[in-house]
Amino acid sequence: MTAHTALKHNLNTELWNNFSPSNRMEMARGIVAFLEAHNRLGEDIVKMLNLGSGVGITSSCLEKAHPFFHITDIDQIPYRNEVMHKRYLQNDISSLPFRDGSYDAVFSSYTFSYLGNDEQVMREWLRVLRPGGSAYFVFHAPHSAYLKTAREMISANMGKDFLKLIKHYPGDDYRGLYRWFCEKNFAWGMAFKEEQKFLSYAHEIQVCEHLVQVVAGTMFQSDQEIADFFKAQGAEDISVNILGLDFVARSCENMTESQMIAWFVAFRKGLK
Ligand SMILES: C[S@@+](CC[C@H](N)C(=O)[O-])C[C@H]1O[C@@H](n2cnc3c(N)ncnc32)[C@H](O)[C@@H]1O
Repeated sequence: MTAHTALKHNLNTELWNNFSPSNRMEMARGIVAFLEAHNRLGEDIVKMLNLGSGVGITSSCLEKAHPFFHITDIDQIPYRNEVMHKRYLQNDISSLPFRDGSYDAVFSSYTFSYLGNDEQVMREWLRVLRPGGSAYFVFHAPHSAYLKTAREMISANMGKDFLKLIKHYPGDDYRGLYRWFCEKNFAWGMAFKEEQKFLSYAHEIQVCEHLVQVVAGTMFQSDQEIADFFKAQGAEDISVNILGLDFVARSCENMTESQMIAWFVAFRKGLK
């Protein structure tokens, strides 16, 4: 695989490692506050699996927000970073190496769309959840402010420029990317004086492009679609909500699409 094919088609783990989404703590607090307000959390230790956990920030934040969560991360990429969660397993999340019902809860954020919202994959995720256990999911939403920002970002001049130039990058890895860009385009050199800043911007453009080009096609379109999807999977007590721009989880009424970042869904696995 040439360097530019790798750049275009894979999210760069090195860039992911250097990227720390600062909003994960707010998201965790928003979710936990909502679950507490709706009596969906108790005071027992909850053995939870975070599917497609990424670098592990989300799990650490969730454990801080609710000390009864005891989370194991699972992801295909062995991110090497000090923020990696202490319990981490490298594995494909469409086929899990766990026995039926081995977790009290499953969680996943911004990942299911990457697996095509595949029913088979969800059945596998719910297989490892014990009957009566809880599922908490954050799903991309095609019409959210998040995706709108992504679209705006890649259509901005800097984004277009980046995507045009990256096709010709001759390097084998990402060291030297910044210098090469500055040589090719004076504006980049002026705009980003530090390599770190440049790399995180480049990373965001890659993620945005991926979201807009690939992931957007498979996202859930409506709360009804989500409810129907999980009813068919035997879920009970389904609550489909919205994560607002302020990372507060709210019920779907009283919210406009422009105020939402993502869907937030909570339900219980049926006992049968
Ligand atoms: C957009 S990131 C979300 C990370 C994290 N959940 C968060 O909210 O920050 C999607 C993650 O899903 C993982 N992923 C996608 N498909 C996967 C698969 N088949 N097996 C394991 N992990 C997968 C990717 O490696 C990536 O870390």
